[in-house]
Amino acid sequence: MTTPLEPAQPSPRHLITLDGMSAVQITGLLDLAAELRARFRAGARTLPLLTDRTVFNLFFEPSTRTRASFDLAARRLGAQVINFDIASSSTGKGESLEDTLATLEAMDADAFVVRHQANGTPARLAVHARRAVVLNAGDGNHAHPTQGLLDALTIRDRKGSINGLKVTICGDIRHSRVARSDVHALRALGVGEIRLCGPRRLLPDDGEFVDCAIGDDFDAAVENADVIVMLRLQKERMTAAMIDDDADYFTRYGLDPVRLKRAAPDALAMHPGPMNRGVEIASEVADGPQSTILDQVANGVFVRMAVLADLLGA
Ligand code: NCD
Repeated sequence: MTTPLEPAQPSPRHLITLDGMSAVQITGLLDLAAELRARFRAGARTLPLLTDRTVFNLFFEPSTRTRASFDLAARRLGAQVINFDIASSSTGKGESLEDTLATLEAMDADAFVVRHQANGTPARLAVHARRAVVLNAGDGNHAHPTQGLLDALTIRDRKGSINGLKVTICGDIRHSRVARSDVHALRALGVGEIRLCGPRRLLPDDGEFVDCAIGDDFDAAVENADVIVMLRLQKERMTAAMIDDDADYFTRYGLDPVRLKRAAPDALAMHPGPMNRGVEIASEVADGPQSTILDQVANGVFVRMAVLADLLGA
């Protein structure tokens, strides 16, 4: 009898964070996303894997990419999708989120896709879900697991593997759930080096990222990088004005063609969106040949198809 080298590892019941997920689990989801993408591009525009399943999108924060792509992903798998209108729901009448969840679960909801400004909300709802699965679409600055997966898939597509790469993440690291989920995914997949860069006030607290190089000098951080992930200034999460001036910020932390040249010759310029041109990234870079921004968006749909199919056991 032979023993498999890498035993199959099922995904957790809910998708709350990539922290603690193994390379096998993450690679399995990326492979599934790539497989769904190949089938879609070969002409299978819909796959009836989730017919008769109901997915509720509960977005308590604005979203363009994540919400549209979760919606599209579920529909392409044949599910029924309810985009819950938070502004006009009873959460504004004092109903707790737990009671809202129980109410929707009583309508036989199968999955809740949750985005919320408070860290831990998707995890809290997952504890209350009786049968449905909860997928975190971004909570506070805690986690954005599908963004971590789609970024890893985009890098793997272009570079062949994550193994040994030098990745620089620059911008408002302190408030970024994207940075955190990227670090979790990249670390699990054997990244060589992660450099976190931004103005001092926007760097994380000491001790949070012990295995990353942290600094405020972008020119140094970008040197020879294989991948550069640029982040938006999340002013909605800042408690005070933490940045003096956008133009000054661009001078020190903007990714322009001159800075991009300091990186490895074929370095990737990434951004999760929404981007602010001329604040963290120059248009020449965002629209240039090294940019992966629209590939990230395209991959987001396939990654979300993969996680929905996987968690709903299709
Ligand atoms: C990010 C988010 O909401 O965390 N956007 C996204 O999901 N693509 C990043 C951001 O808002 O800056």
